[in-house]
Amino acid sequence: MKTQKKLFSTALVLVLAAGMVLTGCKKQEEAAEDKGLVGVVMPTRSEERWNKDGAAVQAGLEALGYAVDLQFSDDDIPTQVRQIEDLITKGAKCLVIASIDGVALSDVLAQAATAKIPVIAYDRLIMKSPNVDYYLSFDNYAVGQQMGDILIQGMNLDSPAKTPLIIELFGGSPDDNNAYKFYDGAMDRLKPYIDSGVLKIGSGQQGMDVVGTLRWSNEAAMARMENLLSAYYTNQTLDGILSPYDPISLSTLEACKAVGYGTPDKPLPVVGGQDCIVASCKSILAGEQYATVLKDTRVLGEATVQLVDTILQGNVPAGLDTTSYPNDSTRNGAAYIVPSVLLKSVIVTKDNLKQEVVDTGYLTADEVGL
Ligand code: BGC
Repeated sequence: MKTQKKLFSTALVLVLAAGMVLTGCKKQEEAAEDKGLVGVVMPTRSEERWNKDGAAVQAGLEALGYAVDLQFSDDDIPTQVRQIEDLITKGAKCLVIASIDGVALSDVLAQAATAKIPVIAYDRLIMKSPNVDYYLSFDNYAVGQQMGDILIQGMNLDSPAKTPLIIELFGGSPDDNNAYKFYDGAMDRLKPYIDSGVLKIGSGQQGMDVVGTLRWSNEAAMARMENLLSAYYTNQTLDGILSPYDPISLSTLEACKAVGYGTPDKPLPVVGGQDCIVASCKSILAGEQYATVLKDTRVLGEATVQLVDTILQGNVPAGLDTTSYPNDSTRNGAAYIVPSVLLKSVIVTKDNLKQEVVDTGYLTADEVGL
């Protein structure tokens, strides 16, 4: 099943890549046309990735001749709702939305449906509304498995230096559907090692209701890490941290350094992450954060551009995944599974950072300090 899914994503990327080549040829002639307004709403400007996402989607759509209204919602739900309402009023022909809270948009999406505006959930699935026409993201469960694989590799769990090795778990925001996929995917990989006694959760804290981090706040994660270190680590040493997000990785590492980790006798715990932000790349190259998961925002942006264009040209997108993402709503009396495009992510360590991040142009050598 998983292999099939992988093949599916690979095939899809190829289809999209073929689309990109065609797009390139047509760009100039189409740029002159005005194909109408597309509303793009990103959750916040304050995280590196959403700025890149917004810029990639905007540039791609404008190159095809669409006008783009790009909004950032300051991680504030009423602001996001208001921005979507404004875009509907302005006559947007399609809405691309990365939600803040996956269940908070039902009313405004009902307005979009009444106005016959197709809605694409961007990266984060919008839940409990049938008025989400497509979902474009990475294979989030697979991303979570990669987060687990990072610890398996970095902590050498298949041939451990001692047992048990001690970890703590951090999850993403409980109002973001992705956070559950990441956590479940990671635990799918780590559970066998916990069951066999190779890994032990030092505090015993697990489950998204306990280890989740509202709004992905690195400050909240740092405070929790500080509390864990003082409550559970006077007589044991922390060997690894499951982190779903680079700023959480960096802040938990800071908390560890503050209590003496980072010396030859007491090395920093092995920490992964997600998003491949500049600061984490620097930390990886400096031998501190062990790894991250790169989800190339350019690829997601281009896939979005292709999907928007396909829909607005009156064509039906082909080859979508129609089994993976139910969103707790019903369409035509049946449980609704949102047709999805699921892309592939890459684990980045010190060993392949140059090749995967710099040589591909995702970040420059100057940015990461190479
Ligand atoms: C995204 C991640 C991002 C996180 C915090 C998730 O929904 O998939 O890439 O790190 O939100 O913004």
